[in-house]
Amino acid sequence: MRSDANIAGPMTDPVPGPRTESAGEDVSRETLPPMDDTPIGRAAQLAVEALGRAGEGLPRPEQTRIMVVANQKGGVGKTTTTVNIAASLALHGARVLVIDLDPQGNASTALGIDHHADVPSIYDVLVDSRPLSEVVQPVLDVEGLFCAPATIDLAGAEIELVSMVARESRLQRAIQAYEQPLDYVLIDCPPSLGLLSVNALVAGAEVLIPIQCEYYALEGLGQLLKNVDLVRGHLNPTLHVSTILLTMYDGRTRLASQVAEEVRSHFGQEVLRTSIPRSVRISEAPSYGQTVITYDPGSSGALSYIEAAREIAFRGVAVHYEPYQHGRVGHQNNQRMAEEMQ
Ligand SMILES: Nc1ncnc2c1ncn2[C@@H]1O[C@H](COP(=O)(O)OP(=O)(O)OP(=O)(O)O)[C@@H](O)[C@H]1O
Ligand SMILES: [Mg+2]
Repeated sequence: MRSDANIAGPMTDPVPGPRTESAGEDVSRETLPPMDDTPIGRAAQLAVEALGRAGEGLPRPEQTRIMVVANQKGGVGKTTTTVNIAASLALHGARVLVIDLDPQGNASTALGIDHHADVPSIYDVLVDSRPLSEVVQPVLDVEGLFCAPATIDLAGAEIELVSMVARESRLQRAIQAYEQPLDYVLIDCPPSLGLLSVNALVAGAEVLIPIQCEYYALEGLGQLLKNVDLVRGHLNPTLHVSTILLTMYDGRTRLASQVAEEVRSHFGQEVLRTSIPRSVRISEAPSYGQTVITYDPGSSGALSYIEAAREIAFRGVAVHYEPYQHGRVGHQNNQRMAEEMQ
């Protein structure tokens, strides 16, 4: 367990505004086990539970796993998934780098990383070939977690990159030249399939697609999968969709379970067993510059991201032992999906 993770802070420190506010909200009601009646007792019990789970060892990948969190649909939970999976893995002792590749800079905000216009950022890495090590900042709340922030400059990079040499592989080169040891790199993509996302797909081996359990959830996925195929065919033979995560799942609606069923029947083994519930705690955390893992570690949102991270970590071990077979299965599945979704 990391001593400096800001676990106890939000639990013992009353944050009256958001915590009371959400208590009355129907959609956000967290499903929690029965526990001590007093707020402090309850908070303590939840924290102990969450930390107990976080303290369980997870396998470390033998090589750095580079995961591209992508879905060109907006607002499906890409950033939320990136920062919370990253924090969960770091809490288990992994060294994790989050690369914010979205000009909105939401991942940087959620990790409490300064990203005003003058801060050295991923824009400088992509456009000016600045070493990644010069822009990476440690995340203060969580030991082992780092972030390469995005500033608003990045909005212009899509266009500036067009005329550059090796425009699709600039991020890949920067990551390859980064000398610090890392267990995971998670790249938070913007909601588009432009050159920034292509740079991420060239740099990574695994694609993690968050899918929001809403109507039209699968719309546009065919295009993403086609891009994955194109990048694999021309620029990065190792690329495959390794992980699908269902987000904002509201178990009380039939729609959510129908979408979940559809996604599972299309993708099968890539879909994590854990899905992420809709939770006000998850959506509140970024406004405190925190992940939900540190903001409210006992909440259902935090626990489900911790569980999803465990699945990802264990699957990585399986991938390691059967690299060829896994890649092939993933490849076939992705192709089938892309064809079905035309
Ligand atoms: N499980 C959840 N429960 C409640 N709110 C959530 C959940 N996941 C994400 N949100 C909220 O939904 C909104 C969109 O999430 P997020 O920013 O992660 O999506 P995104 O795919 O990164 O969006 P964009 O395409 O704009 O980059 C945010 O306000 C976030 O706080
Ligand atoms: Mg985002």
